[in-house]
Amino acid sequence: MSFRLKMNRSAKKTDSNIVLALDLPSDQPQSLLSRSIRILEEAHSYVCGVKINRQLVLPLGLFNGVQKILSIAQDLELPTIMDCKINDVGHTNRTIAEYYYKAGFDAVTANPFVGWEQGLQPVFEVAKQMRRGVILLVYMSHKAAEEGYGQTIQNPKTEQLSPQYLTFAEKALSWNADGAVVGATYPEKIKEVYRILGENVPIYSPGVGVQGGGVEAPIKAGARYLIVGRTITLSENPAETVKRVRDAAKRCLK
Ligand code: XMP
Repeated sequence: MSFRLKMNRSAKKTDSNIVLALDLPSDQPQSLLSRSIRILEEAHSYVCGVKINRQLVLPLGLFNGVQKILSIAQDLELPTIMDCKINDVGHTNRTIAEYYYKAGFDAVTANPFVGWEQGLQPVFEVAKQMRRGVILLVYMSHKAAEEGYGQTIQNPKTEQLSPQYLTFAEKALSWNADGAVVGATYPEKIKEVYRILGENVPIYSPGVGVQGGGVEAPIKAGARYLIVGRTITLSENPAETVKRVRDAAKRCLK
């Protein structure tokens, strides 16, 4: 089953479009694994997927701690995303993707800035061979995103000027990416990207809550999945918090 379909099915089954970002801050490294597992077990009924970043891979190790979390997510039938933002030359990118897929991740994130040939092509190839997903960054959620993703560029083929992120949205479509990331903090950009992608490539939107993004605006603009981290992971009651976010998202999806 493709990653896209896996996410779709999971969202239907869990009645949720929330992806839990298990990106815990580094203040208590000794209890990182047990805390991550506890949050996942408490929140799992209200999320359709789990995203992990280097906050866990670096201290816990990919084939030790992180694999334990992946196997719990698999038991719960939740698809997993490694938010590694692959951004190197092709053969290195391929190796990075292979390790994450072999560890059990269903998808990786990648940065279209490096281009196709000798860039992300090998990542898409290995994803196809292993039947996993690639999600492309299109416009990030942080304040300085405009400095890179928002630059005006001249399309080398058509010579027309366009914002960088719209060319990335077009690449997400033509490369047949499994998802496109656009920050929840920029709903107007989500709308523009959605006009290009439609229902062909689902939009994943991080930046909800702590980074200032809302729930309603990104969904109304076209985001399919909301990626939520600290609002859930740092809350006193992760299950209650994630249920509240999930219910708010559900109301907007109707
Ligand atoms: P918070 O705690 O802000 O966490 O809800 C969100 C997590 O998602 C990651 N993040 C991004 N990943 N593109 C991405 O691929 C983005 O624009 C982006 N913004 C945030 C980030 O690692 C954070 O931990």
